[in-house]
Amino acid sequence: MRRFIVVGQTASASGDFSLDDLPGSSGRLDVLLRCVRAALLTSHGLRRDVVVYLVLQRGPRVVRLGGESLKFVRPDERSLATLVQKLLLRHDAADDRFVEQKPGLGVASAGLDWVLSDLGGAHPYVLEEGAPDARGHGLDESSAFFIGDHLGFDAATRSALAMIRAEPVSVGPVSLHSDDVVAIVSNELDRRR
Ligand SMILES: C[S@@+](CC[C@H](N)C(=O)[O-])C[C@H]1O[C@@H](n2cnc3c(N)ncnc32)[C@H](O)[C@@H]1O
Repeated sequence: MRRFIVVGQTASASGDFSLDDLPGSSGRLDVLLRCVRAALLTSHGLRRDVVVYLVLQRGPRVVRLGGESLKFVRPDERSLATLVQKLLLRHDAADDRFVEQKPGLGVASAGLDWVLSDLGGAHPYVLEEGAPDARGHGLDESSAFFIGDHLGFDAATRSALAMIRAEPVSVGPVSLHSDDVVAIVSNELDRRR
């Protein structure tokens, strides 16, 4: 199982944003949703062996999308935003248990710690500009990849990832958008199959 964890420092955790102005009203949830598309969707299908976690640090809340049982996921940003907005609005923020509202789609009022407890032994990698090249590493399907948003990682996330000995790797010498990093890592893993 491939796992991608996208840490959103500013993305809305309440669902209170406008679908007509996602970048301007959602604290850049659009950055995270593009990662969902890159991780889970192929040209005509859904990757059944991928789990994506969106860590919404402003809550905190965690949205979990499990490709194994998800249904009817469309690739456009507005549809993905609608899916996540409904999930957040229907969820009781005081409930810190993980609640699966639809097959493969769930939410918890929790932060990075909850994600770490759900990784099931996957080897953790942190995607970082300037780190050793991922190509020289033994990435495999049972890895967990941590990716920052448009602001990168905050200090608390960095130290939590250092505590679990997440291995820093890069996907090349250029600083890329988060979703492009997810696409490149997915491609690296696809080629190793
Ligand atoms: C737009 S970048 C963040 C830029 C931010 N200004 C910073 O300094 O961290 C978003 C995320 O993509 C990942 N990323 C970007 N370029 C990368 C690269 N060449 N290799 C690995 N990860 C990269 C990192 O996880 C980063 O936090």
